Amino acid sequence: MSSAKKNYARITTKTLLEMKANGEKISMLTAYDFTFGGIVDQAGIDIILVGDSASNVMAGHETTLPITLDQMIYHASSVVRAVKRALVVVDLPFGTYQADSKEALRSAIRIMKESGAHAVKLEGGIEVKDSIERILKAGIPVMGHLGLTPQSIYKFGTYTVRAREEAEANQLLEDTKMLETIGCFGIVLEKIPSALAAQAAAITPIPIIGIGAGNKVDGQVLVLHDMLGMNKEFSPRFLRRYLDLDQILHQAIGQYSADVKSLDFPNENEQY
Ligand code: KIV
Repeated sequence: MSSAKKNYARITTKTLLEMKANGEKISMLTAYDFTFGGIVDQAGIDIILVGDSASNVMAGHETTLPITLDQMIYHASSVVRAVKRALVVVDLPFGTYQADSKEALRSAIRIMKESGAHAVKLEGGIEVKDSIERILKAGIPVMGHLGLTPQSIYKFGTYTVRAREEAEANQLLEDTKMLETIGCFGIVLEKIPSALAAQAAAITPIPIIGIGAGNKVDGQVLVLHDMLGMNKEFSPRFLRRYLDLDQILHQAIGQYSADVKSLDFPNENEQY
């Protein structure tokens, strides 16, 4: 295993497999619009996830359930227009793939055709196997998502750590192997014990990307607005804040308002 970092002009699903094989960690962040999509891409992030967390972050819903396929396509197409290097993965929203595999394929095709994204992600293991297989057969790359799956929040009843019990942990390992076998190019593991995530990453050649799943996986994903410190209410243990953007924005916007009211803005040089 080499730790040398190769320069990739464009990230593909094949690149990601190569990165895991070479021991290079994979960076992944969410984005939901053109401006942030471009910033995240230019910063060198490998995978941009147009997550259904847009439901919380962009629309202010309490859960990810209300966001629609049309809304996901709007966010995804905005991001895709800005991205030159990263692989853009889009979440299939709740209710667009669980009923049957034909509907799942129609939803995935709409995302690929109307947004120009490169892959879709969907939540669940064996229970959504048929849907994933049908999407894969159409030539659409699929990323799995196991562990805490927020679209099932009303089944779980809480956002706490998943798969602490043996039966759920074994099921997660089985699902990991199954997703690899049917052809998924990667899997997100959310909020599970780090030892279990390490086991999952060790049993498969496809990249395992963790969020709250420790550091013995193949890459990490965070929600952009959380890691930039724009959401003070959300403070799980796994979240590292790289900026206090909430405070910076408050300061800048407050100063602008004060300048307008005091007639400081615009000054002589800021007018025609
Ligand atoms: O929707 C999302 O942002 C996600 C990440 C938390 C992985 O699925």
